[in-house]
Amino acid sequence: MTTDALDLTRQEEFAGRMVQVLNDSCLGYLCSLGHRTRLFDTMAELPPSTSAEIATATGLDERYVREWLGGMTVGGIVEYAPGDGTYRLPPEHAASLTRGAGPDNMASFLQDLALIGIVEDEVLEAFQKGGGVPYTSYPRFQELQAEETARVYDAALVDAIVPLVPGLPERLRAGIGCLDIGTGQGHAVNLLARAFPQSRFHGLDMSETGIAAARAEAERMELHNVRFDVGDTAEMSGTYDLITAFDVIHDLARPAETLSAVSGALRDDGTFLMGDIDASSRLEENVGHVLGPTLYTFSVFYCMTVSLGEGGAGLGTVWGRQTARRMLAEAGFSDVVERHVEGDVLNVYFVARK
Ligand SMILES: C[S@@+](CC[C@H](N)C(=O)[O-])C[C@H]1O[C@@H](n2cnc3c(N)ncnc32)[C@H](O)[C@@H]1O
Repeated sequence: MTTDALDLTRQEEFAGRMVQVLNDSCLGYLCSLGHRTRLFDTMAELPPSTSAEIATATGLDERYVREWLGGMTVGGIVEYAPGDGTYRLPPEHAASLTRGAGPDNMASFLQDLALIGIVEDEVLEAFQKGGGVPYTSYPRFQELQAEETARVYDAALVDAIVPLVPGLPERLRAGIGCLDIGTGQGHAVNLLARAFPQSRFHGLDMSETGIAAARAEAERMELHNVRFDVGDTAEMSGTYDLITAFDVIHDLARPAETLSAVSGALRDDGTFLMGDIDASSRLEENVGHVLGPTLYTFSVFYCMTVSLGEGGAGLGTVWGRQTARRMLAEAGFSDVVERHVEGDVLNVYFVARK
């Protein structure tokens, strides 16, 4: 192509967009720090304040706080009044940045940027040589994953997700046997065990640290109807009325074997409730997905790559509804319905029966 063929307006617009990508990516790291330091939470409660007052209120070093506030100000997140040198976090912004925002807290999600940055060299090597990255390369993964999903479960599990399955709240109240596979730190299981004391709950994950945290929480919550085990989902045993998998199947090395094992472990009238990423299996249908770039990024840096790291299927975060339905059918689920929780753009819930 000669330079004559270049659309210079388009070129300039795109160059501007890339500058915005750079700026927004950098702001993501500052927002992550704003969450971890509790600067956002504290500022949401403060009147317009100087950097010294904000540093005192958070117990942080003023020089760092001032530099962070500089980035927050030029990034349009915090307002600055040069007359008196005060900074303010508008309540409309706090609604997406504080712990009080619950599932809407985007600053918490942005902690993942630093986590995936740690493995960039290993991911690069996998691009060049194939293979993947082991779970052990992601030091804070279990902790961050649990923090992110706990907000969703606290807000919606019992009141919005469980009722997606017709009759399930009643059955859980009466008492049934349940298994959650890839349970991570087990918060979903513990919440269900507390809400439905007549039912028995079992959580399974291959992560020893995840299961240790799950057991510790169950003990703190004084639950007696819950059990957690370290194990591989593809080799589960036992018989259950309800099996759940939240954000798990696309990460697995052996998803087809796991879905078959789920089918085999379910009673004939049992239900498999599979929460997964709400996307299409067709790339062209994901253009314009509100979280599209995020999903493919996390696939490259984590979901696809941990699976390939175990010599697995590498389905990826965006395996999509069509592939999920095909695999559920192949595993013996003849009745599959897709359900959504209002306001949740990330997840789709497959209610699957044999
Ligand atoms: C994305 S996390 C989801 C955790 C949890 N369900 C939640 O919603 O927070 C996926 C989980 O699957 C677990 N996992 C991956 N492969 C597994 C396998 N083969 N057997 C058991 N657990 C596995 C990981 O350790 C991780 O805790």
